[in-house]
Amino acid sequence: MAADYDRVRAALESLYVPGRRFLEWGSATGVITIVADLLGYDAGGIELDASLVGVARDLATRNGSGARFAVGSFIPMGWEWRPKKADARTGTIGRGPSGYLELGRSLSDFDVVYAFPWPGEEPMMLDLFRSHGHEDALLLLHTSNDGVRIHPRGSIRT
Ligand SMILES: C[S@@+](CC[C@H](N)C(=O)[O-])C[C@H]1O[C@@H](n2cnc3c(N)ncnc32)[C@H](O)[C@@H]1O
Repeated sequence: MAADYDRVRAALESLYVPGRRFLEWGSATGVITIVADLLGYDAGGIELDASLVGVARDLATRNGSGARFAVGSFIPMGWEWRPKKADARTGTIGRGPSGYLELGRSLSDFDVVYAFPWPGEEPMMLDLFRSHGHEDALLLLHTSNDGVRIHPRGSIRT
């Protein structure tokens, strides 16, 4: 399933400030990361599926985009989801070596982080962002039910 690119683009445009760093969790074919780069963000994506990262890099080159993509997991090394209330199912979120090293950045280096969770995957993403996101950073979650929601790191209670 792909995101509604127009809605995500509009949200990214409204949040743009020169110098802002953007990260896409699970960047697939790279469209959103490339859009962010073309809007002016310093943009990168992390994706577990190496073949999709190849597609994303080709797409970036063909569109004159400097977006960078890393093969790996958006889950930082050593982090485990330990929910107090819910069970610890993580839906379609896969496991693998962390992709942050390849990007040369940690999660707390990014100002705007975007993901398109499947139903039930939001609590884990919110918890991860609360634990490792920069205190002034924003998490954009795009879901088929709610459209694009902006979660300031400081407002997340899990
Ligand atoms: C629902 S798709 C979202 C694609 C894209 N972000 C969008 O908005 O259209 C989820 C993507 O996350 C990738 N993925 C799943 N678990 C991951 C993980 N732990 N780290 C990085 N990518 C992951 C999948 O391979 C898939 O490409």
